[in-house]
Amino acid sequence: MELRAAAEAVRENAHAPYSNFKVGAALRTSSGKVFTGCNVENVAYPEGTCAEAGAIAAMVAAGEREIAEAYVIADSPDPVPPCGGCRQKLAEFAGKDAPVTLATLDGTERQTTVGNLLPGAFDAGHMDRT
Ligand code: THU
Repeated sequence: MELRAAAEAVRENAHAPYSNFKVGAALRTSSGKVFTGCNVENVAYPEGTCAEAGAIAAMVAAGEREIAEAYVIADSPDPVPPCGGCRQKLAEFAGKDAPVTLATLDGTERQTTVGNLLPGAFDAGHMDRT
């Protein structure tokens, strides 16, 4: 499945009555499967979740752990970068070189990687004193 089409389709299902800013995310895992998520806002604003978080939750629930590629789309003038928390969430399940495409509905795309989105990421090695 094409990641852009998957992200664009799931974006339509976003629950974003407070920001009116719908976001869709699609992940391809190393097994080739595609998982998608959209933002789900809440009247208690901090309880809302991002599209990337939803896609990651779907991937993990299906028993997968390795993001090979990610695609995020929104109806914005420029491709919207993932928030800080989503960068950390992507880094949990992707190598630094995993490609991330940020896109607008009108067709602009920006290519980056998980490592570029979160340089100096905190990882398990930082807790190792031995
Ligand atoms: N949002 C995402 O879902 N992913 C991003 O990468 C950026 C922001 C959502 C969160 C919130 O529902 C809305 O966009 C406005 O911040």
